Amino acid sequence: MNGPTVSVSLNSPQFLARNSFISSSKLKTDTSRRSLGICKCVSSPPAEQTAYTTKVSRNANMAKLQAGYLFPEIARRRAAHLLKYPDAQVISLGIGDTTEPIPDIITNAMAERACALSTVEGYSGYGAEQGEKKLRSAIASAYYKDLGIDESDIFVSDGAKCDISRLQVLFGSSVKIAVQDPSYPAYVDSSVIMGQTGLYENQRYSNIEYMRCDPQNGFFPDLSLISNADVIFFCSPNNPTGSAATREQLTQLVQYAKKTGSIIVYDSAYAMYISDDCPRSIFEIDGAKEVAIETSSFSKYAGFTGVRLGWTVVPKELLFSDGFPVA
Ligand SMILES: Cc1ncc(COP(=O)(O)O)c(C=O)c1O
Repeated sequence: MNGPTVSVSLNSPQFLARNSFISSSKLKTDTSRRSLGICKCVSSPPAEQTAYTTKVSRNANMAKLQAGYLFPEIARRRAAHLLKYPDAQVISLGIGDTTEPIPDIITNAMAERACALSTVEGYSGYGAEQGEKKLRSAIASAYYKDLGIDESDIFVSDGAKCDISRLQVLFGSSVKIAVQDPSYPAYVDSSVIMGQTGLYENQRYSNIEYMRCDPQNGFFPDLSLISNADVIFFCSPNNPTGSAATREQLTQLVQYAKKTGSIIVYDSAYAMYISDDCPRSIFEIDGAKEVAIETSSFSKYAGFTGVRLGWTVVPKELLFSDGFPVA
């Protein structure tokens, strides 16, 4: 005879994986084995399912996301390694965060501004959707001085990751993207969710161009191997390799995009850490304004990972195939 059962809820990234969804009402733990120290998970037959379900079906693209998603996979392997070698000093290249507090000149200004919202003079309703003029202008002059980018090209947001997903919505489901391999996972994930890809097989999604970047090619891809890509995500310095592209390499990239009609989405989230002559912005390269968008962030420069503040530059010169401005 079966013993009593207790429900177990699922709370892991596996939750997103294809075919991994088992509702908590269906997953029961057989406690009759507890005396043996064994806890057996069994799926109850569908007949027992009583939970109400909506008529809305799950987005099939979400179901394509893999349990093999990079960060949970790194965490899993790290935990397994530590289980085997408890004294190992592991340097994790998994999900990272900033470690220094936000400078108080910033938090004081934030506090002042927040308090002012409780006064009649200081209260403001919805802000301008592109961001405050003063901040747009400060970003343009601090980071893009003499590069031909002005405040109207800057769009302030709650971070680069959010902008990457919004750009995918802007491009739609019929574009094909290229990514550095390895790269920050947000480019691929947003592409999958938008329905730009096929299924995940042999550690790759179909309909994505993976541009290998490794010590053999100096961490810069062989662009001639790209068979065709509408949108090229390029991050410099790259997460996770840390490699920054040189002026010559970025010139090659811009010329390639111009030749093929592609748009580059250049992620400069770590650009302020560049200390040599490598460009900090794609707009340091001639002709980039006609082929590139740049997305960036205060997360890493100023400890804003939790506060959320970033921006994207979309130059007026960047046009879709029908001549319509991308901005
Ligand atoms: C390359 C890269 N771009 C963007 C982001 C996310 O930036 P934000 O915090 O502004 O969303 C990260 C965060 O790890 C990153 O590594």
